[in-house]
Amino acid sequence: MATALNSPDPSLPPRPRVLSGIQPTADSFQVGNYLGAIRRWVELQETHDAYYCVVDQHAITVEYQPPVLHERTLSSFAQLIAAGLDPQRSTVFVQSHVPQHSQLSWVLQCITGFGEAGRMTQFKDKSQREGTDRSTVGLFTYPVLQAADILIYQADGVPVGEDQRQHLELTRDLAQRFNSRFGRTFTVPEPLILADTAKILDLSEPTAKMSKSSPTGCLFLLDPPEVITKKIKTAVTDSGRDIAWDPVEKPGVSNLLSLIAAFTASTPTAVADDLAGGGYGGLKKAAIEAVLEFTVPFSARVHELLADRTYLLQLMAIGAERARAAAQPTLALTYERVGFVTLPN
Ligand code: TRP
Repeated sequence: MATALNSPDPSLPPRPRVLSGIQPTADSFQVGNYLGAIRRWVELQETHDAYYCVVDQHAITVEYQPPVLHERTLSSFAQLIAAGLDPQRSTVFVQSHVPQHSQLSWVLQCITGFGEAGRMTQFKDKSQREGTDRSTVGLFTYPVLQAADILIYQADGVPVGEDQRQHLELTRDLAQRFNSRFGRTFTVPEPLILADTAKILDLSEPTAKMSKSSPTGCLFLLDPPEVITKKIKTAVTDSGRDIAWDPVEKPGVSNLLSLIAAFTASTPTAVADDLAGGGYGGLKKAAIEAVLEFTVPFSARVHELLADRTYLLQLMAIGAERARAAAQPTLALTYERVGFVTLPN
């Protein structure tokens, strides 16, 4: 059922468009990806014409294993659906299914300065990590492909974390440069920086942000219940026994309070009041319950989707088709603007 999605009621003005992307670089998204980004994407479906993509082409800019990427792309897509992205209301798709991204990327590469691309801090960090000899040109042009992901849909807003601000600035610069050189072609997108309201820290080191590089301190959405239980049971707490929201003096306890608050639509202080007197054992029990209440049905849904590949691929095909239809007019206009010859059809 492919219905017109932009505005459910044609008498209403069209909804502003958002686009975002996530890399399929882990077997499972972690709690931070969900609370910080994906949950916001789900909310934005209510008010925006939303495009969300699994950026598999970005994932091959560093070393990777093809069969692993393959599974992770399927699983990432299934996780987005299980987290609440509605393939009827939003356009959820895989980047490599929409060739217009790479086609536009080439044109944008030809208006990007070498020095400009070289100043991207993510490139500098990653190329340092990989070593200059092993760093690829794909890693260098990564932000230009990202710009193409956004501009090809004429997105008004891009919901991303603070770490993507520089890439968004480049995207805006390229859009403005192209428009002023070739004529108005692209919407200049606004960054919608997702404030880290529920910043969840590493369970075993509650001063660092929760990250997938710390296996004991990071909760993955697809962790089985016993793994989540164990990670929370062994989470660092603080000296004393009071349950109080005090991120400076009691970072471990406060982190568990934030975690519970984020999963129960509450606030850390309200949770602290509720659990006062229950000791750290009670706090951890509440944290385990709050997380499992989300992850158990979530994991079940992901496994169901992954077990039915035909259906999963059908959902991907619906997203791809819609995305290509939205992308093609921008590509055609771009090609015309830069002077490529259009064949009659
Ligand atoms: N670079 C982004 C990240 O690492 C992922 C991404 C690729 C993206 N293309 C995008 C995000 C387009 C927003 C819009 O998080």
